[in-house]
Amino acid sequence: MKMWSGRFRQPLDPQFERWQRSFEFDRRLLSYELAASGAHARALKNAGVLSADELISILEGLQQIGEMAAAAQGFVEDDEAEDVHHFVEKQLAARIGEVGYKLHSGRSRNEQIATDLRLYVRAAIDELRKEVAEVCAAFIDRAEQAGNATMPAYTHLQHAEPVLLAHWLLAYVEMFLRDADRLADCRKRVNVCPLGSGAVAGATLPLDRVFMAEELDFAAPTANSIDATSDRDFILEFVNALSLLSLHLSRWAEEMILFSSQEFGFVQLPEAYSTGSSAMPQKKNPDLLELVRGKTGRVIGSATALTVTLKGLPLAYNKDLQETQEQLFDGADTALGLLPLVAGFMKAVEFDHARMNEAAQSGFMNAWAAATYLVNRGVPSRLAHEQIGKAVKLCLEKSCELQDLTLDDLHSLHPAFDESFYDCLKPAAVLAIHDVVGGTAPARVRQGIAAAKEKIESLREEINFHAHA
Ligand code: ARG
Repeated sequence: MKMWSGRFRQPLDPQFERWQRSFEFDRRLLSYELAASGAHARALKNAGVLSADELISILEGLQQIGEMAAAAQGFVEDDEAEDVHHFVEKQLAARIGEVGYKLHSGRSRNEQIATDLRLYVRAAIDELRKEVAEVCAAFIDRAEQAGNATMPAYTHLQHAEPVLLAHWLLAYVEMFLRDADRLADCRKRVNVCPLGSGAVAGATLPLDRVFMAEELDFAAPTANSIDATSDRDFILEFVNALSLLSLHLSRWAEEMILFSSQEFGFVQLPEAYSTGSSAMPQKKNPDLLELVRGKTGRVIGSATALTVTLKGLPLAYNKDLQETQEQLFDGADTALGLLPLVAGFMKAVEFDHARMNEAAQSGFMNAWAAATYLVNRGVPSRLAHEQIGKAVKLCLEKSCELQDLTLDDLHSLHPAFDESFYDCLKPAAVLAIHDVVGGTAPARVRQGIAAAKEKIESLREEINFHAHA
């Protein structure tokens, strides 16, 4: 039976009928639809609309549908179901007869889809945060293993200063922790229950909305029925948080691609995550990294599509909102699909410490440390900068590094230089002077690792808390 055929004199155009359906994609919301329907049924019983027996048979019917969906291949297929709501109604009637049609008393699909989508996004956030925590853990493990290994840090992609490899890895951990935090923040606004909002104006029966919200572990019922049935901000926020997450992964992927090129030679791509070329026998290509970078475009595309879909919609529900589902699912699937691969890749990749270390010691990466030497001897910073700039110019003429200049060379630039200058140019000394919170001095980086580990621990605890709530 259709859900709305009463007032129609003509059947739908078959092509239109197929085209407007959402069952093909919203059937993945089935478990949420069943849970929300259970909460609604209990509220109907409390309101005196269903008898105790009717409630029991509806709940049993819903449970059977859930069991069938879990057990029987091909069960959640139906050429006639318009959407997941229609599918459940049909299945329920098939199992428990006409009493099944009582379930829809006082509710609308507009509040149902809003509720199902909130339940879906909430679960997706919990799952994603778990995966983000695992990615962070993989980066932190590598940071611990890296010890005092150094690498060049770049600005403008030009040699800037040496840093610890661990420091570079922790930079990404910071980004991912912000992503996890953004998702947690988004979750607060996701976690309210539209049930009882009706089609637009609120339920037509005296349903206890606080009760229904509690049944589904929502923090509270939504405050306004017009907003509740038309709001998809939570989807937009969620997918935008995912764009930012994938954007971070894309920046990482881009760096790793560069680092794996023969010109850098900083990392050896793990064979398990690389592919060859059908033409050039020598090739080992960074496909995982390239796809991570490529899929970022896709997630950002979903966020953009959602924004454009919502722009200009009058209140409240419009069928345009159905279009938000596939973008949401694709964004979440894409992000969820790549996170475990990033963690696996990170465990397997090999850093060429010797090569990175060598690169961190050439190209005047100790020039700022050299200028700092003069500053510590009372030379004004601007003048110190100028003199070390001249020292670099001299080195370029002689094809050498700052530590290769003689004291005579140096004295021709400034009288403040003495033998101790050479010590301050050594890699360990250069690292050591960056001794500030968040700096690359080894002790600071070790503090950074410890702090990041603590954050991951509390993130994991929080996630487990939600998982068992
Ligand atoms: N499949 C619909 C959607 O995703 C469910 C809500 C339908 N509501 C309606 N008034 N036609 O938006």
